[in-house]
Amino acid sequence: MKETILKLLKNAAPSYLSGEEMAAKLKTSRTSIWKSIKLLQKSGYNVEGSPRRGYRLLEIPDLLYPAEISEGLQTKIIANRPNLIHHFMQVDSTNNRLKLLAEEGAPEGTVVIAEEQTAGKGRLGRSWLSPGGKGIWLSFLLRPPKPMEEISVFTLLTAVAVANALKNKLPDIEAGIKWPNDILIQDRKVCGILTELKAEADRLHYLVTGLGLNFNFTRSDFTPELKNSATSIFAGDGSHLLSRKEMAGEILREIDVIYQKYLTVGTDDILVQWKAQNVTLGKTITLKSLGGSFSGKALDIDKYGALIIAGPGGERRRFVAGEIIAQEVPK
Ligand code: BTN
Repeated sequence: MKETILKLLKNAAPSYLSGEEMAAKLKTSRTSIWKSIKLLQKSGYNVEGSPRRGYRLLEIPDLLYPAEISEGLQTKIIANRPNLIHHFMQVDSTNNRLKLLAEEGAPEGTVVIAEEQTAGKGRLGRSWLSPGGKGIWLSFLLRPPKPMEEISVFTLLTAVAVANALKNKLPDIEAGIKWPNDILIQDRKVCGILTELKAEADRLHYLVTGLGLNFNFTRSDFTPELKNSATSIFAGDGSHLLSRKEMAGEILREIDVIYQKYLTVGTDDILVQWKAQNVTLGKTITLKSLGGSFSGKALDIDKYGALIIAGPGGERRRFVAGEIIAQEVPK
């Protein structure tokens, strides 16, 4: 009811819509219309009520509500209906919350999105700074009928989706992908991706992929440790051009498109798109992995997304995981 009334008010805005008219349209009482309006106001929508003219929508809150994100979102799998999006004002970690839903049998395409995370998780056991309203903290659930060896391609998939979404919505911002899946703007990290999975021998149960996109951070919002290595869309001068909800919708749309293509034609397209947008290949890098550090030239990624590095003597090594701790900065 609340969502339907919101739609009616949006269509009528900036004009008023009378309670009587809405009640007649929705075959309900004026009291129940009034109750829904109260709920909308409680959720942050600025709805003005006038005894004679009815109600009009003055302002939509800058919050990532399912009704807002899914507006105009025509996806096939990811968040393909508003009730697949679970929105929280505060959560420990969207990945953790989605894993609980996955265990309860949530369908593929379920999304958890939060305004704030109190225990946001980064890769390699790190924490992820996720203050309220400053970013897009979201996780999505996939249940791909695919072999385990293709797993790492999923993190590449998400990186490609975010990079595409940035390019579509903010073409003036130059974003690139650092292997495997960090998104950088001017050599600083704007987005990180963390994929967790449940699998058994050769059977994949589900994948929960979370992405954290720094959006409204100013330089001083970052902690001293992050100040020199992190950035945000705002610091990159773009957040006045679009809202978090538009960007979140675009990211979900891109994930949906790329995932569908992956299911029908395989990983090739993801690899091509990843290579076209990466900022790692061709550079001299130092990679830290479980086996220690290795420096050399990043040559390529293979069909599983593993990084191929040529060492100083020309010897080639293949890495499926690790962190690039130093990378030649573009001139
Ligand atoms: C990284 O270290 O680069 C990965 C960061 C991933 C952060 C996102 S925010 C949404 C989701 N929930 C989490 O707890 N982590 C991911």
